[in-house]
Amino acid sequence: MQTPVVEMRGITKKFPGIVANDSVNFDLQLGEIHALLGENGAGKTTLMNILCGLYEPDEGEILLEGKSVQFRFPGEAIASGIGMVHQHFMLVESLTVADNLVLGQSGQPLIRENPKKLHQRLRNLAEQYGLQIDPAAEVWQLSLGEQQRVEILKAIYRGAKVLILDEPTAVLAPQEVEGFLQTLRNLAAGGTSIIFISHKLNEVLAICDRVTVLRDGRTITTVLTSASNERELAHLMVGREVNKVIRIERQAQSPVPNPQSPIPNPRLIMRDLWVENDRGLPALKGINLAVNAGEIVGIAGVDGNGQRELEEAIASLRPIRGEINLNGTLAHIPSDRYTMGLIPDFSVADNLVLRDIQKPPFNKKGLLRPAAIIRHCTQLVERYLIRTPSPHTHVGKLSGGNAQKVAIARELSRSPQIVLAAQPTRGLDISAIEYVHQQLIAQRDAGAAVLLISTELEEILNLSDRIAVLYEGAIAGIVDANADVRHLGLMMAGKH
Ligand SMILES: Nc1ncnc2c1ncn2[C@@H]1O[C@H](COP(=O)(O)OP(=O)(O)OP(=O)(O)O)[C@@H](O)[C@H]1O
Ligand SMILES: [Mg+2]
Repeated sequence: MQTPVVEMRGITKKFPGIVANDSVNFDLQLGEIHALLGENGAGKTTLMNILCGLYEPDEGEILLEGKSVQFRFPGEAIASGIGMVHQHFMLVESLTVADNLVLGQSGQPLIRENPKKLHQRLRNLAEQYGLQIDPAAEVWQLSLGEQQRVEILKAIYRGAKVLILDEPTAVLAPQEVEGFLQTLRNLAAGGTSIIFISHKLNEVLAICDRVTVLRDGRTITTVLTSASNERELAHLMVGREVNKVIRIERQAQSPVPNPQSPIPNPRLIMRDLWVENDRGLPALKGINLAVNAGEIVGIAGVDGNGQRELEEAIASLRPIRGEINLNGTLAHIPSDRYTMGLIPDFSVADNLVLRDIQKPPFNKKGLLRPAAIIRHCTQLVERYLIRTPSPHTHVGKLSGGNAQKVAIARELSRSPQIVLAAQPTRGLDISAIEYVHQQLIAQRDAGAAVLLISTELEEILNLSDRIAVLYEGAIAGIVDANADVRHLGLMMAGKH
């Protein structure tokens, strides 16, 4: 083997109450795509934050092309050709794409380049790598998929030879994934070395040369993907045999496994609902839909067809025309956990009672009852397997998947009558996904009306009693759980 582009030796990183990385070894070859795999909280992001200069390791050594290096801050890693696209994007929302790309470039002349020329240069670069973006668009107007393209382009623009991608496909619609994976293959073929973090084993097997598995902060093993398979990888990750449900099969066996009475009892009703997007254009065009008590209605569709506006309208976060009637208390699992769901600088315990802080048992005559709050937290942490050093840890310090579990645990523990679940399993590992799916079914069986908005068709098919297809802001059709997948796909593409 050649000298690795990157070698991490014996990396240890401790945080209060937790060893996030424990003597981890990892190496990356030139032009290789190397997957980093592990359950939520296994230490993947931490290891990469060390490589990109955000954290200093407590122990261990990093070598670049055989030479020992020490990064004290991200600028030093960037200068050495290491670019990281974070799990949560770090773009400035109020600036244009172009401004974000040139922002903070050290050694950049103060005189700004002619915007027209700069935009053209960026367009060319984008085209070269198949990363379509509009340099003049402001970031707040972009979808998550588009923002990610900007992040990748930013890394390339800054000369990254090593590209670290932390769950890049979690924010992509399934239809976008294949093109994205092809972009990565092209980058690797061009000599970029890529570290790819994903919970999706099929993606890992499709594009990665090798996989390193982390468990509880330790390196379990590194294997060649060509000599492995989904079952083995899942086993290595979790440390036991995983009974991954074969979803389509279950689908075929039990069409509508719903014990509820057939009497329609609508709890969430939308009538002629019109909603505008951030650009002031109609994003929902006259939606009529009712969700009954005891059923899960899935909203299928390619991302960007009005899902976000639908979610925000129901959650009263966006003005509407028409009508939304909520007949009961609403739980909202938000697609964007940090801006809609959680307060990163509050503790896990406080985030878990955020919506009930005025109510007993958490509050008595206007006084908070910390013991009750902590007890509630301890229960939910156990039930949802939230990996946190303590109830007092700030949510912003949790791993991405564990933060998502906090949002889900809070919302589902409130015995809601209506559940609005938007991309509920984004960023979760396989066991956590199974658990959340069980919870949504349990809510339905307890009589809640569940509206599931998801770009994962598999998830929609697996859970829904009825499926509504959203296409260009309108409902293209409503089908039952037995729907033919091809037929659904055609509707999602506007071809039916
Ligand atoms: N800045 C920090 N302060 C305190 N603890 C932290 C910090 N960053 C990470 N941790 C802890 O380190 C552990 C590993 O977290 P990390 O984010 O590396 O996990 P991960 O493998 O990326 O998980 P996920 O799949 O959920 O993204 C977690 O228990 C997390 O709470
Ligand atoms: Mg992570």
